[in-house]
Amino acid sequence: MTKAADFNDRSLSLGLARVSEAAAIACTPLIGRGDEKAADQAAVDAMRTQLNKLDIAGVVVIGEGERDEAPMLYIGEEVGTGTGPGVDIALDPLEGTTLTAKDMPNALAVIAMGPRGSMLHAPDVYMDKLAIGPGYADGVVTLDMSPSERVAALAAAKGCTARDITVCVLERPRHEDMIAELRSTGAAIRLITDGDVAGVMHCAEPDITGIDMYMGSGGAPEGVLAAAALKCMGGQILGRLLFRNDDERGRATKAGITDFDRVYTRDDLVTQDVIFAATGVTDGSLVQGIKREVGYVTAETILMRSKTGSVRRMIYRNPVS
Ligand code: FBP
Repeated sequence: MTKAADFNDRSLSLGLARVSEAAAIACTPLIGRGDEKAADQAAVDAMRTQLNKLDIAGVVVIGEGERDEAPMLYIGEEVGTGTGPGVDIALDPLEGTTLTAKDMPNALAVIAMGPRGSMLHAPDVYMDKLAIGPGYADGVVTLDMSPSERVAALAAAKGCTARDITVCVLERPRHEDMIAELRSTGAAIRLITDGDVAGVMHCAEPDITGIDMYMGSGGAPEGVLAAAALKCMGGQILGRLLFRNDDERGRATKAGITDFDRVYTRDDLVTQDVIFAATGVTDGSLVQGIKREVGYVTAETILMRSKTGSVRRMIYRNPVS
């Protein structure tokens, strides 16, 4: 293993795109087939195989779960050939298992890589999230503001009215009050049924996606992945872990977390430069999903580096047997 300082994200980035491509393509026969588990397993297997071809000494820090409950790509699993730089990996081979099973928009295969110690070891609990795109002063919206105060603050910063703001929210019973309050401001709401990594990423390109702000609770691991994406694309995300019981607090303690009320900024969630790749499984506003034509499969990947802020959208077309 070489030193963390040797983390050469430029040459590794194409390798990372191959990893998310492989996971997304492996889901192809399972899109719209109503089988979440099979789709997830196919993505996990393919991602792991491809990841193990990379010349890295990688450790999964955001993965498919704890070692005893997730046989592959579990937290702490060592991946790569072991001969390259020491890196931390955050991954979600299939972000949106239900979206895939139902052939609904914005399912992604997602992976981020950074030097050792670059990403929060987030336990598998909920996180209260708030995200906006680039170009705003730090702290223009905060987790301590009410939903309506956030809309008012963002509208003032954007120079528009609340009616011109669109907020993306996961449609869940736990968000009913928040949604009602947002409606009372006149803001538009894009309700999504799953996939808050894509939901947060949408804030970074409001002209394309029409989304200005993301808010609500979702998985904490997805929060770290979303922070890695925004570190590359620009934009802010704030996150606070939410605990429902002692078991969840215990998981946080095990992950090394001591301050349970801490508000994490994007750069607390991801502290150093990272590379990030996401391949579309189903169609979305950011990338197209997998396309099949006779003899070929086509996949679109967004590949980004935070060091340079570069964003590549790559179309990969490959013969299939
Ligand atoms: P999966 O792909 O693992 O099913 O996760 C989808 C997702 O919608 C995430 O994007 C989100 O963070 C989380 O589930 C929300 O959790 P819940 O469904 O419990 O509200």
